[in-house]
Amino acid sequence: MTRRSEQLSEALHEYVVAHSSPPDQLLLDLAQETLRLFGADAGMQIGPEQGTFMRLLAQVTGARRALEVGTFTGYSAICVARGLGTDGRLLCCDVSEEFTTVARTYWQRAGLADRIELRLAPAAQTLAALPADTSFDFAFIDADKAGYVTYWDLIVPLMRPGGVLLADNTLSHGKVIDQAEQSASVEGIRRFNEHAAADSRVELVLLPIGDGLTMARKH
Ligand SMILES: C[S@@+](CC[C@H](N)C(=O)[O-])C[C@H]1O[C@@H](n2cnc3c(N)ncnc32)[C@H](O)[C@@H]1O
Repeated sequence: MTRRSEQLSEALHEYVVAHSSPPDQLLLDLAQETLRLFGADAGMQIGPEQGTFMRLLAQVTGARRALEVGTFTGYSAICVARGLGTDGRLLCCDVSEEFTTVARTYWQRAGLADRIELRLAPAAQTLAALPADTSFDFAFIDADKAGYVTYWDLIVPLMRPGGVLLADNTLSHGKVIDQAEQSASVEGIRRFNEHAAADSRVELVLLPIGDGLTMARKH
């Protein structure tokens, strides 16, 4: 029998967060302001331990050029940009002026504004318009779930060999295995999970971090 990862109880999740490097005051302020401004939508933000994991991953892989699809109020972008180091650059894609106005404020406060470029347009449009010689070391997909397969197909060719691609919410709160669940977003994630797992250009693992985080490395 193999050991299995567990879905964390609230108490165990608190323990995980308490025994990981904590978010700094700026990230705590951003999480609080996002909740104040956007209420339940604040649940779209990645959790603190996922943010720390992504920063460390960007750091240990030596990533310099990064891409984010789905930026919201900028929390994950700050984590990734901090992991890239001072000469790193992060390209962010989102469609919401309202959400990303908050992101811009916090990037400024974090001293990251000159390292992050935001393009406000449907991400598929932004990605398709990138110059042919564009190359990324690190990418994070966290936008509309129905678009994940499209984003994957546009991004994988742009990843350098050895580059790391992450996709968020790939367990859909466990609904991926509930056959009665047929919402567009869960169907989108199921399609994505099948599509990515069958892609011989990458090696990947679906990690039970947050709501499921797929991590792929391009061959
Ligand atoms: C789950 S949130 C991103 C959360 C963010 N990564 C964080 O940790 O705070 C999803 C974001 O995707 C954006 N979005 C939705 N459809 C999009 C599209 N077609 N292209 C680009 N962004 C899109 C939404 O405006 C929203 O800000």
